[in-house]
Formats: sequence, structure tokens, C-alpha cells
Amino acid sequence: MSGSNNSIGLITIDGPGGVGKGTISALVAEQLGWHYLDSGALYRLTALACVQKGISLEKNDDNTNEQIADVAQALDVKFLSQGGILLEGQEVEAQIRTEVAGNNASKVAVIDKVRNALFLRQKDFLQVPGLVADGRDMGTTIFPEAPLKIFLTASAQERAKRRYKQLIEKGITVKMPDLVAEIQQRDERDMNRLASPLKPAQDAQTIDTSELSIKEVFAKVMRLYAQL
Ligand code: DC
Repeated sequence: MSGSNNSIGLITIDGPGGVGKGTISALVAEQLGWHYLDSGALYRLTALACVQKGISLEKNDDNTNEQIADVAQALDVKFLSQGGILLEGQEVEAQIRTEVAGNNASKVAVIDKVRNALFLRQKDFLQVPGLVADGRDMGTTIFPEAPLKIFLTASAQERAKRRYKQLIEKGITVKMPDLVAEIQQRDERDMNRLASPLKPAQDAQTIDTSELSIKEVFAKVMRLYAQL
């Protein structure tokens, strides 16, 4: 296999919310015929399962954090190959993709025990022939051995613009300043937490996507892979 001494291929793609990681990662995985890990979905699912069980995400005391970590540990989730996600047998894809769900995910993600509970579940996605893993700490904590680590960036303003377009297309009306504020708040929480904060791995290749199309970012990642 090109670019790795191991028999299983591995590319990590990290970056802040709304930077296009999901789209790019899915395209790269499809192109290479590899598996895809959307690690953010695991945090979103943990938060949703807590809400469904009536566990508060606001308390931040040891007892509640323990309960949230137990939920993460026992998460009954199935990623369907034809698309869609089942949580305890119920389809929840649309429910976990909202802004509120993303914000809730960011709250459970600061809890160390939650991150530990999800650690092995994420490692398990590394299967032949390879894996493209997308998130905040794929290159720093979960797969530090990855031969290719990408870190995508774009300004909060640019990410809000993209998100605004997506929401309008879905018929959801939002105010731009609210979106920018939400994105900045989430960045702040993701970058400043103690447990595996959002940051590029030392050997990551950073791509500023502000002025680039999806096709251009995809081509850059594939070029970097070919150069390994
Ligand atoms: O990528 P996303 O928007 O689906 O992620 C939702 C939240 O989950 C994000 O704000 C922080 C958290 N997260 C994380 O802490 N570590 C990851 N590897 C992925 C997501």
C-alpha cells in the first residue's frame, strides 16, 4: 500500500466544526475504498442518549460526569452502510445533525471519562484496507501513528457562511451573527478544554480551506497521500 509501513491505511482529518471535514473525509474514504470514522457523531450520540435518559449536560459535577461516561461506554449504536445511524434501534441521523446537538456534543466532549470511554470504540474502526478518521483529536490522541495527518482550518466567519448556506437550503432560517457567535463559542470550548483539545498534531499538514472549493481540498489531500 502506498504511504505506510503498516498493512492498514490510515489518514486523520481534524479541524474545527463546519470546516468541511466530514465531506472531505467521506470523499477520500470513498476514493480509496476505505472505512470512515465520523468521531463527532459518537459525541453527538452520547449527548443525545443523555438527553433521552434525562441526564443533565449542564451540571458538570463528578457524579453526573460519571453517568455521562457510563452512557458513552454503553452506547448502543449502529452506523448503517447505506447511510443513517441507529441509536438503540432508532434512526437518529437528522436529530444529531442540528446545531443544538453539536453544541451538546461539545459539552460532553470536555469530560475526560467520556473521552476514555469512547477511545477503544474509535480504535476499533481501524480495519483493512484502511480508515479515514475525522474529528478533533484523531491525529493527536486516537491515531498518533497515522502516516498522513491533515488539519483543516477556515475562519469562523467563513465556516458560518457555509453553514448558513446549508441551513437555508434545508429551509431553516438563522441569523448570521448568531451562527458566528455559536461557532466561536464551540471553538473556544473545543480548543481550551484540558482533555485532548482541538489542535494540529506536530506533524500534521494544515490546509486553510477559506478560499478553496471542496474539490480543491480533496485534490490537495489526495496529492499529499500520493506523496507519502
Ligand atoms: O465534528 P462534530 O461537529 O460532529 O463534533 C461535535 C462535537 O464533538 C465537537 O464540538 C467537539 C466534539 N468532538 C470531540 O471532542 N472530539 C472529536 N474527535 C470529535 C468531536
